[in-house]
Amino acid sequence: MRREKVFNTLELREKLIEKLQRMKVKRSEDFEVFSEVFNVEVLMQLYDLLRKGFLKEFNGEISSGKESKVFHAVAKGNVEVAVKIYLTVNTEIRRMMLKYIIGDKRFEKVKSDSRSLVYTWARKEYANLTTMHEVGLPVPKPILVQKNILVMSFIGENGQRAPLLKELHELKKPIETYMEIIDFIVKSRDKAGLIHADLSEYNVMIWNEKPVIIDLSQAVPVTHPLAGEFLRRDVENINRFFMKRRWVDEPIPVEEVVGRID
Ligand SMILES: Nc1ncnc2c1ncn2[C@@H]1O[C@H](COP(=O)(O)OP(=O)(O)O)[C@@H](O)[C@H]1O
Ligand SMILES: [Mg+2]
Repeated sequence: MRREKVFNTLELREKLIEKLQRMKVKRSEDFEVFSEVFNVEVLMQLYDLLRKGFLKEFNGEISSGKESKVFHAVAKGNVEVAVKIYLTVNTEIRRMMLKYIIGDKRFEKVKSDSRSLVYTWARKEYANLTTMHEVGLPVPKPILVQKNILVMSFIGENGQRAPLLKELHELKKPIETYMEIIDFIVKSRDKAGLIHADLSEYNVMIWNEKPVIIDLSQAVPVTHPLAGEFLRRDVENINRFFMKRRWVDEPIPVEEVVGRID
């Protein structure tokens, strides 16, 4: 999991310029079609963040998903950050995204072209992180959102990310951890007014023996028409995984979690 530093600021600048120049000779419509992670728009944004001194280093990739790639970087004041860059999406993913956007009053007035949708997706994650962070829930601290780039606090240390719950076969205090995740679900609903909607062993990191919940772009307000369904699914996923690992014998029934008031 340890990533080497790919390039320091100066090298990155050169690389960006080099890349920019190389890309500039391409026809502009290529960017629309082959919008890989380091398209000109992203390079320019990164260049800007480095030029302004907001970022000091931009390091290796931590994760590569269908919708986004996550990088380790160092920000002003030597703070380690995670930079999540959302990729342009295909029709299938767009359809999925719309399911979580339509019905969310904060965002439903947005344009539905691919690019606008991706920007919305990034802003949605930032907004959800902000709300959750403000009420004291264990999520990364949001730092900046700009177009399709989100910067947040890095969960881990020295460029090494914390493990995902999925990657662990042993927990020091499995029942406590389970209860902390259930507590997150309930507090998220009652204090932040949000349902994670993609909670599973893949979106929980364990850091200093505590769960940190990540991947918030699809989280919806409790007023979303599918909020109840998403809430149940979140609890079921966590229950299923803790049972599978034999970390709890009898998980709290979904009904009980749903009925809990914080
Ligand atoms: N704040 C963070 N600090 C450290 N690693 C992170 C952070 N956010 C995400 N990651 C890593 O990046 C991966 C993908 O991030 P995530 O937000 O789950 O996006 P997606 O699942 O949509 O690709 C995570 O599984 C985790 O390994
Ligand atoms: Mg994820």
